[in-house]
Amino acid sequence: MNTRSVLALLLVSLVALSGCDRQAMMSEKGFRLPDGDPDAGREAFFYMQCNQCHTISGEQVAGIPGYPPPYVELGGSVTQVRTYGQLITSIINPSHKLATGYATEVVSEDGVSKMYIYNEYMTVQELIDIVMFLQPHYKVVPPDYQYRMYPG
Ligand code: HEC
Repeated sequence: MNTRSVLALLLVSLVALSGCDRQAMMSEKGFRLPDGDPDAGREAFFYMQCNQCHTISGEQVAGIPGYPPPYVELGGSVTQVRTYGQLITSIINPSHKLATGYATEVVSEDGVSKMYIYNEYMTVQELIDIVMFLQPHYKVVPPDYQYRMYPG
């Protein structure tokens, strides 16, 4: 191998290594917020006017006068546990993964969620409490498979 290819190889492995490093550094492993208070979460939910756009499965949630009725339901039946991490991500990084079950143009514009970004206004405590309040409203149900019966 000549010097140039050794250098090239070194460069490639450096780039690859730094890629791994970054991936490891950006991992959510070890992330855990303390438990919150669901009652305080309910208060924060209405105080922050999340009901401008959201209803909650199993709760009476009125919209906000002067605004169109809320159109995205939180909670309800899901086929997989809605994890703590997913809920937090939905709130602080809404465009990361848009809610399923809605036409994209209803909930987003150019790939960006229509949800407001609260990061500059919501305290970490409010976030913790809101997630604690919302999580029990999701009910895991088995997916509705269509079983095909084979003739015996
Ligand atoms: C201006 C309208 C609007 C407001 C206000 C709003 N949201 Fe949203 N929210 C949306 C839309 C649209 C979606 C669906 C697209 C997406 O996933 O970002 C959404 C999605 C979500 C989801 C994910 C739902 C799922 O099933 O994946 C959560 C959780 C959520 N919002 C929580 C909140 C909370 C908590 C507040 C108040 C702090 C709030 N939202 C305020 C519009 C809004």
